[in-house]
Amino acid sequence: MAEADEILAAAHELLVGTGPLRGKRVLVSAGGTREPLDAVRFVGNRSSGRMGVALAAEARRRGAEVTLLAANLAVPAPAGVELVETPTAADLEREALRRAVDADVVVMAAAVADYRPAEALAAKRPKDTAAWTLELEPTTDVLSALGGQRPDGQVLVGFAAETGAAGLERAREKLARKGADLFVLNDVSRTDIGFDAYENEVTLLTARGERPIAKAPKEAIASAILDEVEALIANG
Ligand code: CTP
Repeated sequence: MAEADEILAAAHELLVGTGPLRGKRVLVSAGGTREPLDAVRFVGNRSSGRMGVALAAEARRRGAEVTLLAANLAVPAPAGVELVETPTAADLEREALRRAVDADVVVMAAAVADYRPAEALAAKRPKDTAAWTLELEPTTDVLSALGGQRPDGQVLVGFAAETGAAGLERAREKLARKGADLFVLNDVSRTDIGFDAYENEVTLLTARGERPIAKAPKEAIASAILDEVEALIANG
């Protein structure tokens, strides 16, 4: 009879596999943040979390230790990952900055609100006949903050949600400005891909060049993104 810790190690090995990301810590954010207006209302976006969940599942399949920062997922979280609920931009900012410190790979797939209501009411605002004027204040750009504090060797991945032909130029600019190694560009003006869709069609941008990935289910897109991440890890 083997020792208990040997059995545990063997079971862990079987569950996690011997994939190429074994021993790596991967932090993924997914979904869309909701910024409260009052006790029941919020300002949000259409992100389902499918792309980030597919990335977390694929990273796990490749043997990584995965933490998923979940912002209001419309799909189930994958098994075998550490799940941290981050419903608002402030929650996501706090958890991402704290947990990225010892991550080998950070993927910011979540649609984080750029603005939130300057004031959130604790109770439900009763209806009246007057207009309700909102003041929105900017949130922290979490990806830029991560780019500013990232440890040596960490691979940082961002998503660029763009509309139309000018998107590629804007994604190139974001790659440089936000201090990321890889940007995943998708066109959010199309309803068949991207936000709240099952499929995606993206362009992967790194300092070394740009690679279009043909329209495919988000699981296949996740695989292409992690192939690129592995190449970035290998090239130091
Ligand atoms: N992001 C973030 N924190 C925010 C907003 C966005 O970390 N407050 C991240 C997203 O997770 C994504 C990347 O930044 O990885 C790009 O988001 P996008 O909305 O395309 O870009 P923005 O910087 O918000 O620029 P713009 O809205 O002007 O296109």
